[in-house]
Amino acid sequence: MKGRRGSTCSHLLSLIVVLGFGLRAFVAPQARLFTGHHEAHAGVAFTEDDEEPMKRMKVYVYDMPGKFNKRVAQRDMRCLMHMFSIEIHMHLFLLSSSVRTLNPEEADWFYTPVYTNCDLTSFGLPFVKYMPRMMYSAINHISTHWPYWNRTDGADHFFVVPHDFGACFHYHEREAIARGILPLLERATLVQTFGQLNHTCFKEGSIVIPPYVSYKRILSHILPSSTPRSTFLYFRGAFYDVDGPQGDYYARGVRATIWEKYRNHSLFDMSSDHPTTYYEEMQRSIFCLCPLGWAPWSPRIVEAVVFGCIPVIIADDIVLPFSNMLPWDDMVVFVREKEVDKLEEVLTSITIEEVRRKQRTLSDPAIKKALLYPRKSAPGDGFHQVLLALSEKVPHSSSMYRRPGQASTLNWTAGSSTDFIPWEI
Ligand SMILES: *[C@@H]1O[C@H](CO)[C@@H](O)[C@H](O)[C@H]1NC(C)=O
Ligand SMILES: *[C@@H]1O[C@H](CO)[C@@H](O)[C@H](O)[C@H]1NC(C)=O
Ligand SMILES: *[C@@H]1O[C@H](CO)[C@@H](O)[C@H](O)[C@H]1NC(C)=O
Ligand SMILES: *[C@@H]1O[C@H](CO)[C@@H](O)[C@H](O)[C@H]1NC(C)=O
Repeated sequence: MKGRRGSTCSHLLSLIVVLGFGLRAFVAPQARLFTGHHEAHAGVAFTEDDEEPMKRMKVYVYDMPGKFNKRVAQRDMRCLMHMFSIEIHMHLFLLSSSVRTLNPEEADWFYTPVYTNCDLTSFGLPFVKYMPRMMYSAINHISTHWPYWNRTDGADHFFVVPHDFGACFHYHEREAIARGILPLLERATLVQTFGQLNHTCFKEGSIVIPPYVSYKRILSHILPSSTPRSTFLYFRGAFYDVDGPQGDYYARGVRATIWEKYRNHSLFDMSSDHPTTYYEEMQRSIFCLCPLGWAPWSPRIVEAVVFGCIPVIIADDIVLPFSNMLPWDDMVVFVREKEVDKLEEVLTSITIEEVRRKQRTLSDPAIKKALLYPRKSAPGDGFHQVLLALSEKVPHSSSMYRRPGQASTLNWTAGSSTDFIPWEI
C-alpha cells in the first residue's frame, strides 16, 4: 500500500542521520546568498531589531513518541524533501533554536512535532486518510501527559500543518471543506502553507508560510544575473489531473482553460514536461505562471520569486506567505480565475516600467531569504519569519486560560469515528 522507494541521495541520507542522532549536530556549508543587483526594500522589515521580540519569546517542544515523527520519517525518506516537509525542517530548527526552552512553565508557546504529511502513498503523496487520526492521537497524547493543553484548550499551542488545505487534511477542496479544520485545533494557532480568504480551511490568526523548496538545489542552478530574459511566459506542470475522475474540477478548470486557449501561443512557453533545466528557464523568463492546482499555493511561487521571474498568480483570494511582511503587490501579477481567458491581454498590457519595478523588488535578497529555509538558518530566513509572526501574538491574553472548574470548550467527539483510533505504525 505504501511506497518504500527510498532515494540514496546524500542530502537525504544526511537528514536521516540528523533524525537518527539527536537532530542537531549538523552544520551545512554556509551558502552564499544570492548575488545580483538589489535595492533594499522599504516594505521588508527584517532588521536586527526584529530579533528582539524573538529573544524574549520561549517555545517548548514536546518530546513525542517516535511514531508521531522520527519513525514515520525514517520509513520513507521522500518526506524529508517534498514540498510539505517544512513540518520536519521546522522541528529540527526549533530543537536547536535559541527560543527553545526546556522548562514548559516559562513557555509562551507549545509546539507538537507531528509529521502528518510523512505517511506516503507509493506516488510519494501524503496519505490523507490517516492525517486526522495522527493529529487527534498526538493531541490526546499531550493533553494526557502534560497539564498545558487543558489549561488553554490549546490556545498557546501551534502546529505546522503544511498540507494542501492545512488542517482540513484533504487535497480535494470539496472533501477538505466537508472535513473542516480538525475540531481539536479550534483554539490552536495553525502554521500552514494554505491561505485563502473566507475559506473553511483558513481560520483567523493562522500564519501562512512558504512551502519547502530545497535551498541547496536552488543554489546549484543560479545563472549569472546578467542572463537575458528572452521567454515572455513560462510554465511547466499539469493542466489536467491525469488520474482523477473529476475532469475540470482540477485547478477549478483554470489550467485546462489556459492550455486549451494558449498552448500554441508564441509568447507562452508551456508544457507538462519536467525538464532538468526548469530553474534555468525560470531565470530566462519574464513571467512565471503560478495557477492554482489542487490547492491555491505552490512551490512555484517561491521558485519564481527566488529566480526573479514575476509570478502570475491565478488563485482567487489567496493569502500569500508572511503577507504583512512582504511587499507581494509590488512583485507579482494577480489574474482572477474567471479572467484567465484574457491572460494574454492582461500580461501584454503591463508596461515595461511596471515590469522593471517588479523585477527590482524581486531582486531584493532579503525577500528571497524570507521564503527559504536554509539548513544553516540565520535571521531573516523563513524559520525566523515564523518566529517573528509567533512573537507578534505574545504575550497572550490572560482570558486564554480556562477558569478553575470551567469545562473544555473543545468537542472531543466531533469528527469521523475512525479519527479517534489511536495512531500506530
Ligand atoms: C485533559 O482533558 C482531557 C479531556 O477532558 C482528559 O482526558 C485528560 O485527562 C486531561 N489531562 C490532564 C493532564 O488532566
Ligand atoms: C464568504 O463565503 C460565504 C459562503 O461561500 C459567502 O456567502 C460570503 O459572501 C463570503 N464573504 C466574503 C467576504 O467574501
Ligand atoms: C494547436 O496546435 C495543434 C497542433 O498543431 C492543433 O491541433 C490545435 O488545434 C491548436 N490549438 C489551438 C488552440 O490553436
Ligand atoms: C460534539 O460533536 C458531536 C459529533 O459531531 C455532536 O454529536 C455533539 O453534539 C457535539 N457536542 C457538543 C457538546 O457540542
